[in-house]
Amino acid sequence: MTTYTDKGPKPESGRFVSFDHVTFWVGNAKQAASYYCTRMGFESLAYKGLETGSRKTAAHVVRQNKIIYVFESMLEPFQPEDFGQHLLKHGDAAKDVAFEVVDLDAIFKRAVERGAVVVNEPYEETDENGTVRMASVKTYGDTTHTFVDRSNYKGVFLPGFKILQDKDPLLTKLPEVGLQAIDHLVGNQPNDSMISAAEWYEKNLMFHRFWSVDDSQIHTEFSSLRSIVVTNYEETIKMPINEPANGKRKSQIQEYCDYNGGAGVQHIAMRTNDIITSIINLKARGMKFLEIPATYYKNLRNQLKNSKVEVKENLDEIQRLHILVDFDDNGYLLQIFTKPMQDRPTLFLEVIQRNNHQGFGAGNFKSLFEAIEADQANRGNL
Ligand SMILES: [Fe+2]
Repeated sequence: MTTYTDKGPKPESGRFVSFDHVTFWVGNAKQAASYYCTRMGFESLAYKGLETGSRKTAAHVVRQNKIIYVFESMLEPFQPEDFGQHLLKHGDAAKDVAFEVVDLDAIFKRAVERGAVVVNEPYEETDENGTVRMASVKTYGDTTHTFVDRSNYKGVFLPGFKILQDKDPLLTKLPEVGLQAIDHLVGNQPNDSMISAAEWYEKNLMFHRFWSVDDSQIHTEFSSLRSIVVTNYEETIKMPINEPANGKRKSQIQEYCDYNGGAGVQHIAMRTNDIITSIINLKARGMKFLEIPATYYKNLRNQLKNSKVEVKENLDEIQRLHILVDFDDNGYLLQIFTKPMQDRPTLFLEVIQRNNHQGFGAGNFKSLFEAIEADQANRGNL
Protein backbone atom coordinates (compact mmCIF):
# COMPACT_ATOMS: atom_id res chain seq x y z
CA MET A 1 0.00 0.00 0.00
CA THR A 2 1.02 3.61 -0.44
CA THR A 3 0.44 6.52 1.89
CA TYR A 4 0.63 10.13 0.76
CA THR A 5 1.89 13.18 2.63
CA ASP A 6 1.18 15.90 0.05
CA LYS A 7 -2.15 17.54 0.88
CA GLY A 8 -1.96 19.91 -2.06
CA PRO A 9 -2.73 23.61 -1.62
CA LYS A 10 -5.09 24.61 1.19
CA PRO A 11 -8.34 25.87 -0.38
CA GLU A 12 -8.43 29.67 -0.17
CA SER A 13 -12.10 29.57 0.74
CA GLY A 14 -14.64 27.01 1.87
CA ARG A 15 -14.04 24.13 4.28
CA PHE A 16 -15.39 20.60 4.51
CA VAL A 17 -16.23 19.82 8.15
CA SER A 18 -17.46 16.20 8.26
CA PHE A 19 -19.97 13.72 6.91
CA ASP A 20 -23.38 15.27 7.68
CA HIS A 21 -25.80 12.47 6.77
CA VAL A 22 -26.40 9.74 4.17
CA THR A 23 -29.72 9.45 2.32
CA PHE A 24 -30.92 6.05 1.11
CA TRP A 25 -33.61 5.78 -1.55
CA VAL A 26 -35.59 2.66 -0.65
CA GLY A 27 -38.89 0.94 -1.41
CA ASN A 28 -40.24 1.11 2.14
CA ALA A 29 -38.51 3.73 4.31
CA LYS A 30 -40.65 2.96 7.35
CA GLN A 31 -39.43 -0.64 7.49
CA ALA A 32 -35.83 0.08 6.44
CA ALA A 33 -35.43 2.64 9.24
CA SER A 34 -36.88 0.17 11.73
CA TYR A 35 -34.34 -2.48 10.66
CA TYR A 36 -31.40 -0.12 11.24
CA CYS A 37 -32.84 0.73 14.67
CA THR A 38 -33.46 -2.81 15.91
CA ARG A 39 -30.46 -4.48 14.28
CA MET A 40 -27.81 -1.72 14.24
CA GLY A 41 -28.64 0.36 17.32
CA PHE A 42 -30.00 3.54 15.73
CA GLU A 43 -32.92 5.55 17.16
CA SER A 44 -35.65 7.49 15.38
CA LEU A 45 -34.81 11.17 15.14
CA ALA A 46 -37.19 12.82 12.67
CA TYR A 47 -39.86 12.22 10.05
CA LYS A 48 -41.49 13.87 7.08
CA GLY A 49 -44.43 12.58 5.06
CA LEU A 50 -48.05 13.35 4.23
CA GLU A 51 -48.79 14.36 7.85
CA THR A 52 -46.08 17.03 7.75
CA GLY A 53 -46.99 18.36 4.28
CA SER A 54 -44.43 16.36 2.30
CA ARG A 55 -46.64 15.22 -0.59
CA LYS A 56 -44.15 13.34 -2.79
CA THR A 57 -41.85 11.42 -0.47
CA ALA A 58 -41.72 10.14 3.10
CA ALA A 59 -38.44 10.13 5.01
CA HIS A 60 -37.52 8.48 8.31
CA VAL A 61 -34.34 9.84 9.91
CA VAL A 62 -32.38 7.71 12.39
CA ARG A 63 -29.36 8.63 14.49
CA GLN A 64 -26.65 6.96 16.54
CA ASN A 65 -24.35 9.56 18.15
CA LYS A 66 -22.95 11.54 15.16
CA ILE A 67 -24.19 9.12 12.48
CA ILE A 68 -27.40 10.19 10.72
CA TYR A 69 -29.11 8.08 8.05
CA VAL A 70 -32.20 9.18 6.12
CA PHE A 71 -34.43 6.52 4.55
CA GLU A 72 -36.68 8.00 1.90
CA SER A 73 -39.47 6.49 -0.22
CA MET A 74 -41.82 7.72 -2.96
CA LEU A 75 -45.48 8.07 -2.02
CA GLU A 76 -46.82 7.80 -5.59
CA PRO A 77 -45.58 5.86 -8.64
CA PHE A 78 -42.57 7.56 -10.27
CA GLN A 79 -43.00 10.80 -8.31
CA PRO A 80 -40.38 12.11 -8.69
CA GLU A 81 -39.56 10.28 -11.93
CA ASP A 82 -35.81 9.95 -11.22
CA PHE A 83 -36.59 8.41 -7.81
CA GLY A 84 -38.67 5.69 -9.49
CA GLN A 85 -35.94 5.00 -12.04
CA HIS A 86 -33.28 4.89 -9.31
CA LEU A 87 -35.30 2.39 -7.29
CA LEU A 88 -36.01 0.19 -10.31
CA LYS A 89 -32.36 0.12 -11.32
CA HIS A 90 -30.47 0.00 -8.02
CA GLY A 91 -33.00 -1.37 -5.53
CA ASP A 92 -32.56 0.03 -2.00
CA ALA A 93 -29.34 2.04 -2.22
CA ALA A 94 -27.41 5.02 -0.90
CA LYS A 95 -28.40 8.01 -3.04
CA ASP A 96 -26.78 11.05 -1.46
CA VAL A 97 -23.78 11.58 0.80
CA ALA A 98 -24.07 14.98 2.51
CA PHE A 99 -21.11 16.92 3.90
CA GLU A 100 -21.29 19.71 6.44
CA VAL A 101 -19.38 22.67 5.01
CA VAL A 102 -18.36 26.21 5.89
CA ASP A 103 -18.84 28.76 3.06
CA LEU A 104 -21.13 26.70 0.85
CA ASP A 105 -21.07 29.27 -1.97
CA ALA A 106 -17.30 29.08 -2.36
CA ILE A 107 -17.30 25.27 -2.37
CA PHE A 108 -20.23 25.00 -4.79
CA LYS A 109 -18.92 27.70 -7.18
CA ARG A 110 -15.45 26.17 -7.37
CA ALA A 111 -16.82 22.64 -7.93
CA VAL A 112 -19.12 23.79 -10.73
CA GLU A 113 -16.44 25.96 -12.39
CA ARG A 114 -14.18 22.91 -12.41
CA GLY A 115 -16.80 20.71 -14.03
CA ALA A 116 -19.10 19.22 -11.36
CA VAL A 117 -22.63 18.63 -12.67
CA VAL A 118 -25.27 20.56 -10.70
CA VAL A 119 -28.19 18.66 -9.16
CA ASN A 120 -29.51 21.54 -7.00
CA GLU A 121 -28.31 25.16 -7.09
CA PRO A 122 -27.84 26.67 -3.61
CA TYR A 123 -31.18 26.96 -1.78
CA GLU A 124 -32.26 27.55 1.77
CA GLU A 125 -34.83 26.08 4.12
CA THR A 126 -36.06 27.80 7.27
CA ASP A 127 -38.03 26.90 10.38
CA GLU A 128 -38.23 28.24 13.95
CA ASN A 129 -34.67 27.00 14.60
CA GLY A 130 -33.09 29.04 11.82
CA THR A 131 -31.96 28.53 8.25
CA VAL A 132 -29.95 25.79 6.52
CA ARG A 133 -28.38 26.36 3.10
CA MET A 134 -27.75 23.43 0.77
CA ALA A 135 -26.64 22.61 -2.78
CA SER A 136 -26.00 19.31 -4.57
CA VAL A 137 -23.74 17.95 -7.29
CA LYS A 138 -23.44 14.62 -9.05
CA THR A 139 -20.57 12.20 -8.37
CA TYR A 140 -20.04 8.57 -9.49
CA GLY A 141 -22.94 6.51 -10.87
CA ASP A 142 -26.27 7.98 -9.80
CA THR A 143 -24.83 9.09 -6.45
CA THR A 144 -24.90 12.75 -5.41
CA HIS A 145 -23.21 14.94 -2.80
CA THR A 146 -25.10 17.60 -0.87
CA PHE A 147 -23.19 20.44 0.78
CA VAL A 148 -24.91 21.55 4.01
CA ASP A 149 -24.22 24.87 5.74
CA ARG A 150 -25.93 24.67 9.13
CA SER A 151 -24.04 27.58 10.74
CA ASN A 152 -27.31 29.54 11.16
CA TYR A 153 -29.38 26.60 12.39
CA LYS A 154 -29.98 25.31 15.92
CA GLY A 155 -32.36 22.41 15.19
CA VAL A 156 -31.36 18.77 15.53
CA PHE A 157 -31.69 17.87 11.82
CA LEU A 158 -33.14 19.93 8.99
CA PRO A 159 -36.18 22.22 8.49
CA GLY A 160 -39.20 20.37 7.10
CA PHE A 161 -38.85 17.43 9.47
CA LYS A 162 -40.91 16.70 12.55
CA ILE A 163 -38.68 15.73 15.47
CA LEU A 164 -39.83 12.50 17.07
CA GLN A 165 -40.05 12.22 20.85
CA ASP A 166 -41.69 8.81 21.19
CA LYS A 167 -39.34 5.89 21.67
CA ASP A 168 -39.83 2.48 20.10
CA PRO A 169 -40.59 0.28 23.17
CA LEU A 170 -38.67 -2.62 21.63
CA LEU A 171 -35.42 -0.61 21.56
CA THR A 172 -35.40 0.00 25.32
CA LYS A 173 -34.95 -3.76 25.78
CA LEU A 174 -31.91 -4.00 23.48
CA PRO A 175 -28.23 -3.50 24.45
CA GLU A 176 -26.49 -0.29 23.40
CA VAL A 177 -24.19 -0.56 20.37
CA GLY A 178 -22.04 2.58 20.69
CA LEU A 179 -21.25 3.47 17.07
CA GLN A 180 -19.88 7.03 17.17
CA ALA A 181 -19.30 8.52 13.69
CA ILE A 182 -18.76 7.63 10.05
CA ASP A 183 -15.08 6.69 9.66
CA HIS A 184 -15.08 6.27 5.88
CA LEU A 185 -17.52 5.70 3.04
CA VAL A 186 -16.52 3.60 0.03
CA GLY A 187 -17.58 3.91 -3.61
CA ASN A 188 -17.26 1.00 -6.06
CA GLN A 189 -16.53 1.79 -9.70
CA PRO A 190 -16.74 -0.37 -12.83
CA ASN A 191 -13.55 -1.39 -14.71
CA ASP A 192 -11.03 1.38 -15.31
CA SER A 193 -13.15 4.06 -13.64
CA MET A 194 -11.35 4.40 -10.29
CA ILE A 195 -8.83 7.01 -11.36
CA SER A 196 -11.40 9.27 -13.01
CA ALA A 197 -13.68 8.96 -9.95
CA ALA A 198 -10.80 9.83 -7.58
CA GLU A 199 -9.73 12.72 -9.82
CA TRP A 200 -13.27 14.10 -9.64
CA TYR A 201 -12.69 14.69 -5.89
CA GLU A 202 -9.17 16.03 -6.38
CA LYS A 203 -10.23 18.47 -9.07
CA ASN A 204 -13.72 19.59 -8.04
CA LEU A 205 -13.61 19.38 -4.24
CA MET A 206 -9.82 19.92 -3.78
CA PHE A 207 -9.53 16.61 -1.94
CA HIS A 208 -6.15 14.84 -1.99
CA ARG A 209 -4.97 11.25 -2.07
CA PHE A 210 -4.47 9.76 1.38
CA TRP A 211 -3.76 6.07 0.76
CA SER A 212 -3.91 3.56 -2.05
CA VAL A 213 -3.46 -0.12 -2.88
CA ASP A 214 -3.18 -1.84 -6.24
CA ASP A 215 -3.81 -5.36 -7.42
CA SER A 216 -0.16 -6.41 -7.08
CA GLN A 217 -0.51 -5.70 -3.36
CA ILE A 218 -4.04 -7.02 -2.81
CA HIS A 219 -5.21 -10.22 -4.42
CA THR A 220 -6.40 -13.70 -3.62
CA GLU A 221 -6.13 -16.77 -5.81
CA PHE A 222 -9.34 -15.68 -7.50
CA SER A 223 -9.75 -11.93 -7.54
CA SER A 224 -8.27 -8.57 -6.71
CA LEU A 225 -9.03 -4.86 -6.45
CA ARG A 226 -7.48 -1.43 -6.62
CA SER A 227 -8.37 1.37 -4.23
CA ILE A 228 -7.53 5.05 -3.80
CA VAL A 229 -8.63 6.92 -0.66
CA VAL A 230 -9.37 10.61 -1.17
CA THR A 231 -9.87 13.07 1.68
CA ASN A 232 -10.47 16.77 2.34
CA TYR A 233 -7.66 19.13 3.38
CA GLU A 234 -8.35 18.61 7.11
CA GLU A 235 -8.61 14.82 6.54
CA THR A 236 -11.95 14.57 8.35
CA ILE A 237 -13.82 12.90 5.44
CA LYS A 238 -12.31 9.71 3.99
CA MET A 239 -13.67 8.28 0.75
CA PRO A 240 -12.02 5.13 -0.62
CA ILE A 241 -12.74 4.55 -4.33
CA ASN A 242 -12.45 0.92 -5.56
CA GLU A 243 -12.38 -0.80 -8.92
CA PRO A 244 -12.14 -4.48 -9.83
CA ALA A 245 -8.89 -5.94 -11.13
CA ASN A 246 -8.48 -9.01 -13.28
CA GLY A 247 -8.31 -12.37 -11.55
CA LYS A 248 -9.22 -15.97 -12.30
CA ARG A 249 -12.81 -15.35 -11.23
CA LYS A 250 -15.22 -12.46 -10.80
CA SER A 251 -14.03 -9.73 -8.42
CA GLN A 252 -16.40 -8.84 -5.56
CA ILE A 253 -16.27 -5.27 -6.90
CA GLN A 254 -17.56 -6.53 -10.25
CA GLU A 255 -20.28 -8.51 -8.48
CA TYR A 256 -21.33 -5.28 -6.75
CA CYS A 257 -21.40 -3.33 -10.03
CA ASP A 258 -23.42 -6.08 -11.75
CA TYR A 259 -26.07 -6.13 -9.00
CA ASN A 260 -26.12 -2.39 -8.35
CA GLY A 261 -26.22 -1.46 -12.02
CA GLY A 262 -22.91 0.43 -12.08
CA ALA A 263 -21.02 2.56 -9.59
CA GLY A 264 -22.37 3.25 -6.09
CA VAL A 265 -21.72 3.22 -2.36
CA GLN A 266 -20.28 -0.18 -1.39
CA HIS A 267 -19.87 0.17 2.37
CA ILE A 268 -20.00 2.64 5.22
CA ALA A 269 -17.55 2.16 8.09
CA MET A 270 -18.66 3.40 11.52
CA ARG A 271 -16.25 4.02 14.37
CA THR A 272 -16.64 2.60 17.87
CA ASN A 273 -14.46 3.08 20.96
CA ASP A 274 -15.12 -0.49 22.11
CA ILE A 275 -15.54 -2.93 19.23
CA ILE A 276 -15.84 -5.99 21.51
CA THR A 277 -18.94 -4.61 23.25
CA SER A 278 -20.34 -3.21 19.99
CA ILE A 279 -20.11 -6.56 18.22
CA ILE A 280 -21.39 -8.61 21.17
CA ASN A 281 -24.43 -6.31 21.28
CA LEU A 282 -24.92 -6.20 17.49
CA LYS A 283 -24.90 -10.00 17.45
CA ALA A 284 -27.41 -10.01 20.32
CA ARG A 285 -29.57 -7.83 18.05
CA GLY A 286 -29.29 -10.45 15.31
CA MET A 287 -26.75 -8.78 13.00
CA LYS A 288 -24.83 -11.19 10.77
CA PHE A 289 -21.14 -10.66 9.97
CA LEU A 290 -18.58 -12.25 7.66
CA GLU A 291 -16.91 -15.27 9.23
CA ILE A 292 -13.14 -15.54 9.32
CA PRO A 293 -11.38 -18.94 9.32
CA ALA A 294 -9.32 -20.09 12.34
CA THR A 295 -6.10 -20.08 10.27
CA TYR A 296 -6.32 -16.26 10.13
CA TYR A 297 -6.05 -16.05 13.93
CA LYS A 298 -3.23 -18.61 14.05
CA ASN A 299 -1.23 -16.46 11.60
CA LEU A 300 -2.20 -13.29 13.46
CA ARG A 301 -0.91 -14.62 16.79
CA ASN A 302 2.42 -15.52 15.16
CA GLN A 303 2.77 -12.14 13.47
CA LEU A 304 1.91 -10.24 16.65
CA LYS A 305 4.66 -12.10 18.54
CA ASN A 306 7.20 -10.47 16.19
CA SER A 307 5.62 -7.02 16.35
CA LYS A 308 6.24 -4.06 18.63
CA VAL A 309 2.54 -3.39 18.92
CA GLU A 310 0.46 -4.82 21.74
CA VAL A 311 -3.23 -5.48 21.11
CA LYS A 312 -5.01 -4.66 24.37
CA GLU A 313 -8.14 -6.63 23.55
CA ASN A 314 -8.36 -10.34 24.32
CA LEU A 315 -7.40 -12.30 21.17
CA ASP A 316 -9.64 -15.25 22.05
CA GLU A 317 -12.58 -12.83 22.22
CA ILE A 318 -11.52 -11.21 18.93
CA GLN A 319 -11.41 -14.65 17.29
CA ARG A 320 -14.73 -15.74 18.78
CA LEU A 321 -16.39 -12.61 17.37
CA HIS A 322 -14.61 -12.89 13.95
CA ILE A 323 -13.04 -9.42 14.28
CA LEU A 324 -10.08 -8.66 11.97
CA VAL A 325 -6.85 -7.00 13.16
CA ASP A 326 -4.45 -4.90 11.07
CA PHE A 327 -1.34 -3.35 12.58
CA ASP A 328 2.06 -1.78 12.13
CA ASP A 329 4.77 -0.91 14.67
CA ASN A 330 2.84 2.10 15.97
CA GLY A 331 -0.74 0.97 16.30
CA TYR A 332 -3.55 -1.27 15.15
CA LEU A 333 -7.13 -1.27 13.94
CA LEU A 334 -9.93 -3.72 14.59
CA GLN A 335 -12.69 -4.15 12.01
CA ILE A 336 -15.59 -6.39 11.02
CA PHE A 337 -17.98 -6.43 8.07
CA THR A 338 -21.69 -7.18 7.95
CA LYS A 339 -23.36 -9.34 5.35
CA PRO A 340 -25.19 -7.27 2.69
CA MET A 341 -27.93 -5.07 4.22
CA GLN A 342 -30.48 -6.01 1.53
CA ASP A 343 -31.16 -8.98 -0.75
CA ARG A 344 -28.94 -7.62 -3.51
CA PRO A 345 -25.26 -8.25 -2.67
CA THR A 346 -24.55 -4.52 -2.75
CA LEU A 347 -24.30 -2.23 0.32
CA PHE A 348 -22.81 -3.58 3.55
CA LEU A 349 -21.56 -1.95 6.75
CA GLU A 350 -18.27 -2.01 8.65
CA VAL A 351 -17.56 -1.45 12.34
CA ILE A 352 -14.04 -0.18 13.06
CA GLN A 353 -11.97 0.72 16.13
CA ARG A 354 -8.72 2.61 15.62
CA ASN A 355 -5.81 2.51 18.04
CA ASN A 356 -3.27 4.91 16.55
CA HIS A 357 -3.63 3.37 13.07
CA GLN A 358 -4.99 5.34 10.09
CA GLY A 359 -5.06 2.55 7.48
CA PHE A 360 -8.02 0.74 5.97
CA GLY A 361 -7.18 -2.86 6.81
CA ALA A 362 -4.95 -3.69 3.81
CA GLY A 363 -3.38 -6.47 5.86
CA ASN A 364 -6.88 -7.97 6.14
CA PHE A 365 -7.97 -7.59 2.53
CA LYS A 366 -6.82 -11.07 1.57
CA SER A 367 -8.69 -12.79 4.44
CA LEU A 368 -11.62 -10.51 3.96
CA PHE A 369 -11.79 -11.29 0.25
CA GLU A 370 -11.61 -14.99 0.94
CA ALA A 371 -14.53 -14.64 3.35
CA ILE A 372 -16.49 -12.58 0.79
CA GLU A 373 -15.61 -15.08 -1.94
CA ALA A 374 -17.02 -17.92 0.16
CA ASP A 375 -20.32 -15.99 0.25
CA GLN A 376 -19.98 -15.10 -3.46
CA ALA A 377 -19.60 -18.81 -4.25
CA ASN A 378 -22.72 -19.50 -2.15
CA ARG A 379 -24.58 -16.96 -4.31
CA GLY A 380 -23.33 -18.69 -7.49
CA ASN A 381 -21.30 -15.61 -8.45
CA LEU A 382 -17.68 -16.74 -8.23
FE1 LIG B 1 -13.75 -0.06 4.98
